[in-house]
Amino acid sequence: FSTAVREGSMFKITKKESLAKNIKLFDVYAPNIAKKAKPGQFVIVRSDEKGERIPLTIADYDRVKGTITIIFQEIGRSTIDLGLFEEGQDLLDFVGPLGRPSELERFGKVVCIGGGVGIAPIYPITRALYKADNYITTILGAQNDKSLFWENKLREVSNEVFITTDDGSYGEKGRVTDILSNIITVSHVDKVVAIGPLAMMEAISDLTRPKNIDTIVSLNPIMLDGTGMCGACRVEVGNETKFACVDGPEFDGHLVDWQNAKQRALMFKKEEEIALNYACNCHGKGESNHV
Ligand code: FES
Repeated sequence: FSTAVREGSMFKITKKESLAKNIKLFDVYAPNIAKKAKPGQFVIVRSDEKGERIPLTIADYDRVKGTITIIFQEIGRSTIDLGLFEEGQDLLDFVGPLGRPSELERFGKVVCIGGGVGIAPIYPITRALYKADNYITTILGAQNDKSLFWENKLREVSNEVFITTDDGSYGEKGRVTDILSNIITVSHVDKVVAIGPLAMMEAISDLTRPKNIDTIVSLNPIMLDGTGMCGACRVEVGNETKFACVDGPEFDGHLVDWQNAKQRALMFKKEEEIALNYACNCHGKGESNHV
């Protein structure tokens, strides 16, 4: 973490926005982190002394205002606690930028895919790849029209955009892989970058492997505290043991041992259920998940 910054004392929330059901956006004043942040990296957030460390991929940064944008889904104790903070309040800890930045070159035709809350971290990557003169096809997947956000922002940095929803309430009914399958059947694609649930990233990697299309995924969903010490994010990639928070969070999707990654996620799920039950009994809150 040699390049990470742990700024002064407190970190003011300069903007709070509700993007969709249970999905919140914060702009947090952290000028030294904003100065260094690059697409693909993450920050570790701790709301107060009782709060757990939450690794969240950077959704955007403004070097002029000195802010970092984080987006999180309130589905557990830590993120529900975080969501209770209001504009003008301070967060106790905000450390970053952490993790290896995305590779942002001119690759040619790139398909950027964001699923669920993964739409947030795919945005700065898509913007940078668009600026690097790639032809960008963006595919966004959400449960329904109410859980989709940042469509317009993504449209501004894409040559074409496809939307899918599970229930067909907006865009095409189906999954992002349905659209990707059509695209790679009829046209040449140089690279795919996908961020979202593990099952989505696995399905995308399975689809692109036979065509040998370079596929990058983000394993942030299996990170727990993001410090490199808890061991929770250990994963096999190309028969080597890696830590998502130190060696990633981005990896070659074709080399990830998905069974191993999913087992890790399931392990947390059990712990999360215990934390949720415990928290429900105590405070009516539950453990978190994040991208
Ligand atoms: Fe704990 Fe990576 S999240 S070691």
